[in-house]
Amino acid sequence: MVLTKEELKEKPLILGIDTSCDDTSVALLRGREVISSQLSSQIELHSEFGGVVPDLAKRLHEENIEGVYMKALGNNPGMIHNVDYIAVTIGPGLAIDLEVGIKYAKELSLRYNKPFIPVNHMEGHMFSSLLLNSKGKGLVNDDELINAFPALALLMSGKHTEIVYVNSIGKYKKLGQTLDDAAGEAFDKVGRLLNLGYPGGPVVSEFAKRGRRGVIEFSTPMKSSNDFNFSYSGIKTAALYRAKELREKGVPEREWIYDFCRGFVDAVIDSVVIKLKKAIEKKADVKSILVGGGVFNNEEILRAVGRVSKEYGLNYYYPEIEYRSDNAAMIALSGYFNVLQKKVLTEKEDILVVDRDPRLSL
Ligand code: KG4
Ligand code: ZN
Repeated sequence: MVLTKEELKEKPLILGIDTSCDDTSVALLRGREVISSQLSSQIELHSEFGGVVPDLAKRLHEENIEGVYMKALGNNPGMIHNVDYIAVTIGPGLAIDLEVGIKYAKELSLRYNKPFIPVNHMEGHMFSSLLLNSKGKGLVNDDELINAFPALALLMSGKHTEIVYVNSIGKYKKLGQTLDDAAGEAFDKVGRLLNLGYPGGPVVSEFAKRGRRGVIEFSTPMKSSNDFNFSYSGIKTAALYRAKELREKGVPEREWIYDFCRGFVDAVIDSVVIKLKKAIEKKADVKSILVGGGVFNNEEILRAVGRVSKEYGLNYYYPEIEYRSDNAAMIALSGYFNVLQKKVLTEKEDILVVDRDPRLSL
């Protein structure tokens, strides 16, 4: 739908819930403004196992959701009566974990008679740059928002790496995606092979800053493929062999690990820049670039995409740091855009049959 300023004046109160992976998150938004965004992170527990354990995550979601919900309401249980809509992630994500949030959202919706909005987690990441703080300030004001589309969204999370053509809100065409591993997954796997713990992405990014450029190089994935797809399993394997080789030569790890991370990050940046430019050149009517997902915690990737946007004279919208990784504020925002499109469920029988969709796509 093409947004108008008039429509954006409607600012319902929306409660958003996300339990798609290892964070239990609940947020409260007034239109695009974040009133409260709360989460209970499980990362320390999962890191002991070297990755997210779905069963453990489910149990923790069940234990924590009530507390996170209460915090989001400012510890005022009566606040739920003022809420206009309940939005919840139905996918993509881990099936048994998604179920916890959906069940909780259904109960709230039916008990308090609030319309229900099923949300696609990736649509949340896609619009995370459009959130405003509680004073109504953000990167994108209403005038800019209504003029932002068509746009290209570059999404990089733990399981997804994709470029989406956003014709307008609610109208998407996926141009390309990863054929195997996502970039975030490759970051984590490289982190694991270097014994940097879980998730490895943030540490690999930090180490890369200390490395010298061009000392250890990896070839850019999918450099000359004539599409908009990505692939990161090759670079992961190349990294594995390279590390093995260096170890066998007996070179102490501290002498190469930073240059190694530098080489890996540079190849990822290169792959993203090449594909994004290709997509911009194909879609000449694009006005903005939107980015989202945990990998954009890497400021170098964030800035590299910024340079591409500038080169092509496009607006560049990226999320604040607290909304790059998983959060429920972006889910509530996606819920808000669904409200504007009148995509909400009000009938009990329609709400009851909503099911998780672990492989939901944009
Ligand atoms: O969007 P997100 O929080 O969750 C998903 O929906 O998957 O993304 C998580 C991914 C993980 O692979 C994590 O290692 C990566 O984002 N990540 C990073 C950084 N911080 C988180 N990757 C590179 N550099 C970072 N600083
Ligand atoms: Zn995510």
